[in-house]
Amino acid sequence: MSTPEDKPAPEPGMCPFTGARAGEGVPETTAAPAATVEAPAAPVSRPAPRPKAAGSNEPRKTLLLTGASRGIGHATVKRFSAAGWRVITCSRHAFPEECPWGAGPEDHIQVDLADVDSTVEAIAEVRERLEGGALHALVNNAGISPKGPNRERMNAIDTALDDWKTVFQVNFFAPIMLARGLAHELTEARGSIVNVTSIAGGRVHPFAGAAYATSKAALAALTREMAADFGPLGVRVNAIAPGEIDTAILSPGTDKLVAQIPLRRLGTPEEVARTVYFLCTDSSAYVTGAEIHINGGQHV
Ligand SMILES: NC(=O)c1ccc[n+]([C@@H]2O[C@H](COP(=O)([O-])OP(=O)(O)OC[C@H]3O[C@@H](n4cnc5c(N)ncnc54)[C@H](OP(=O)(O)O)[C@@H]3O)[C@@H](O)[C@H]2O)c1
Repeated sequence: MSTPEDKPAPEPGMCPFTGARAGEGVPETTAAPAATVEAPAAPVSRPAPRPKAAGSNEPRKTLLLTGASRGIGHATVKRFSAAGWRVITCSRHAFPEECPWGAGPEDHIQVDLADVDSTVEAIAEVRERLEGGALHALVNNAGISPKGPNRERMNAIDTALDDWKTVFQVNFFAPIMLARGLAHELTEARGSIVNVTSIAGGRVHPFAGAAYATSKAALAALTREMAADFGPLGVRVNAIAPGEIDTAILSPGTDKLVAQIPLRRLGTPEEVARTVYFLCTDSSAYVTGAEIHINGGQHV
């Protein structure tokens, strides 16, 4: 399982948001920025007027996506953008000026989801950028899975309480804060929420730590609770639980896991993004409270 902590810094000149170099198109897979990133205060750019969807009188649909800067999040940006959605992206990084994805900068919000105040500010900023409009989808994709000083799995005995709290703030509390804070806008659209859990939420994983695993288990339980509570508002709430997805650099030993996966391969971020898209569109209109495994059969 890959995590922000597993990944190298981007090469010089490479856009950390898309993995492309200045002047290049957006690649299918991405490299990752440095593991620990201080979030500088972001100057907030004003939103451009919102166009209608191409070839349609329908207002363009809007997605709010956390953890958009790489991996599964980046593939999700591409999937929804290709379908004509406006995508408001969130991550700790600023949207880099050299990024070749032209639609991005004015719809990017810099937020540290480990910080309650920053998250509250981001919710206010999203509401402002929606200009009173509806939010059709919220995808809670950002997640952290810290490792020990020697890259080892952080177990239930040794994990410091502060580390445990930080993991829960990003992986569990931020999703419910965003959903509650934007409930009105989601209700307006009869929208859809997708929480990104993990196979590690349901079984002990050789690389994912105890804090990460329990945060994802809690997020799966939260998805059920949210489905019950948001359902009467017309808002669907589902989860996707990825297994071993080729997001950048996988932890050493993943090849041994792959040998036991029924489909005998890693998943791709694009395969995950397609399921997220399904859950945010009418194709899944009667699906709520579900957690879809995207793991090549790893859970069986
Ligand atoms: N890849 C897998 O095999 C796998 C398996 C199971 C579950 N998942 C889950 O899938 C989701 C995406 O995984 P991924 O592998 O694509 O992750 P990734 O490549 O490591 O990207 C994580 C994203 O989260 C953002 N992020 C991290 N900490 C943040 C914070 N404090 N505030 C705001 N944004 C933050 C990062 O952006 P910045 O660095 O710019 O902030 C980045 O965009 C995660 O929830 C992960 O737990 C992944």
